[in-house]
Amino acid sequence: MKTTKRTFFKSLAAVSICALFGFNASPVYSSSEAPMKLGFLVKQPEEPWFQTEWAFADKAAKDLGNVQIIKIAVPDGEKTLNAIDNLAANGAKGFVICTPDPKLGPAIMAKARSYDLKVIAVDDQFLNAAGEPMTNVPLIMMAATEIGQRQGEELYKEMQNRKWDVKDTAVLAITADELDTARRRTEGSIEALIKAGFPKEKIYKSPTKSNDIPGALDAANSMLVQHPEIKNWLVVGMNDNTVLGGIRATEGQGFKPENVIGIGINGTDAVNELSKPKATGFFGSLLPSPDVHGYRSTEMLYKWIKDGVEPPKYTPIGDPVLLKRENFKEELLKKGL
Ligand code: GLA
Repeated sequence: MKTTKRTFFKSLAAVSICALFGFNASPVYSSSEAPMKLGFLVKQPEEPWFQTEWAFADKAAKDLGNVQIIKIAVPDGEKTLNAIDNLAANGAKGFVICTPDPKLGPAIMAKARSYDLKVIAVDDQFLNAAGEPMTNVPLIMMAATEIGQRQGEELYKEMQNRKWDVKDTAVLAITADELDTARRRTEGSIEALIKAGFPKEKIYKSPTKSNDIPGALDAANSMLVQHPEIKNWLVVGMNDNTVLGGIRATEGQGFKPENVIGIGINGTDAVNELSKPKATGFFGSLLPSPDVHGYRSTEMLYKWIKDGVEPPKYTPIGDPVLLKRENFKEELLKKGL
């Protein structure tokens, strides 16, 4: 009885000292103990999009207290599986990941399970061996079809503003259909253009070999040369780099900015382009919320590990803002980016 009482008072004192100094009094991860380590693995760390997710994962860690984010670049399957080994060796309890290839889903989950690590997918959904989405792994991503539709609507609107004749106009859609989120975005965009009245037969699709500017530039070049009759181009693509590749191709083939409208997706990766002193064919970019992706996924993972609160299976993030040359600085600032 005596010992129990003493222990009780001891812990009470410890809790109040912690409270006094603003420490997290949780018995599992109090600040006197080693921090909770969480991995944040991204496929393309060179994209500002992913750098922003990392920055906001760090911010969440700071707000949560005594959490450390281990950031690892995972450009391919081998690096991804090695990264999971390293996380486990470092005592991490789980990780958030944007996989370099959705088909790695089963391998990632098997390895994570072998170490008892919790996993949240961000941006791109895992696929199982049959090529179906692994809906049992919690996912946080931008609402792909919807953001694509918005791209199509905005392209059509700007085409009307410029009073282009549809007769002289075509759509150059740079596709990356193996990546489901990319396919859904470009299909959403094409669907919205058709719905607005753009002729279906003037929408030309060209697949890119890699999801970066050089890949998209090649895809665009090969389509542009096949249609010398077209005066004005609308450029569709799954993200900023894809659309930028398309714009660079139109420039290379002598199109003036007045005859080209491209609208990217990500926002973060369009800052250099929108900062150029002279307007280019890159009209703007839809900025969703990389900040929310990074922050919310980290917070969900923490609560899952610490309190057993399972994250929802799907958290879509919507409401993108259209960044243009005239408003991008202000809009980025509003979001603290
Ligand atoms: C994919 C793209 C990235 C970014 C994210 C956002 O992973 O490759 O550029 O658009 O989606 O969810």
